[in-house]
Amino acid sequence: MLENLPENYRAVVFGASGGIGAAMTAALAEDPRCGEVWAGSRTGSGTDRKRHDFRFNLTDENSIAAAADRIGEGGPVHLAVIATGLLHTAEFGPERSWRELDAAAMAQVFAVNTIGPALIARHFLELVPPGVPAIFAALSARVGSIGDNRLGGWHSYRASKAALNMLIRNFAIELERKRKQAICVALHPGTVDTGLSQPFQRGVPEGKLFMPDDSARKLLSVLGGLGPADSGYNYAWDGQRIEW
Ligand SMILES: NC(=O)c1ccc[n+]([C@@H]2O[C@H](COP(=O)([O-])OP(=O)(O)OC[C@H]3O[C@@H](n4cnc5c(N)ncnc54)[C@H](OP(=O)(O)O)[C@@H]3O)[C@@H](O)[C@H]2O)c1
Repeated sequence: MLENLPENYRAVVFGASGGIGAAMTAALAEDPRCGEVWAGSRTGSGTDRKRHDFRFNLTDENSIAAAADRIGEGGPVHLAVIATGLLHTAEFGPERSWRELDAAAMAQVFAVNTIGPALIARHFLELVPPGVPAIFAALSARVGSIGDNRLGGWHSYRASKAALNMLIRNFAIELERKRKQAICVALHPGTVDTGLSQPFQRGVPEGKLFMPDDSARKLLSVLGGLGPADSGYNYAWDGQRIEW
């Protein structure tokens, strides 16, 4: 699955309690080439022989730094996947008009979708080993593409993912100078049957709503097909590059 990573690679998944994050964690734990997988969430998601639980909150940098210290004690990280994200809460949903913009809701969406992943990069890119293949990937969304935006709406979510995409591109450029074998990419999982998409699934065409396991395996297979020359781009579940 991830033949481009070293045997016994160490993986970390942020958002292991989420639909796609849980499926990715399970798929990695089943990969015989994976040495250990660290499963991160706010509430805990279980430990077994190969799978280690850790807690973090994207809005608490100390929790991310503490996780990096703990995981880094055991060696380098060859695969980090950020599978966290926020589209709606009980209090707010994605805006259909500029009239619905609310500063507090927008700040919350940016805190989870943009600033939190940046803080993960801040602490975990340090654990990417020099001279060894490694992957840092963040779940973005096709709607975060500026070039591909024909429908508008969902202002905070789209803008937070567009900003995340820029950070991924920036980190890829910086990594290329410091860790030549490392890959840094954004991923679009397709429309997946999870809590995040649940209120918006009505318009999804027949056959276009993926189950989390299916999406997770497709994304890991996309990652497994990438090399350093593919770093700095945004890939969909089918391996296609998405316009920034
Ligand atoms: N589902 C789709 O159709 C779809 C489409 C395009 C892109 N995506 C992207 O794919 C990624 C995964 O989405 P999903 O569908 O799996 O969503 P999900 O099931 O709602 O999972 C979201 C995850 O984010 C975590 N999270 C939210 N706020 C957090 C915080 N402050 N600190 C730590 N963790 C936090 C949640 O943790 P808790 O369990 O603690 O809340 C959960 O693990 C997201 O980036 C999303 O934007 C999804």
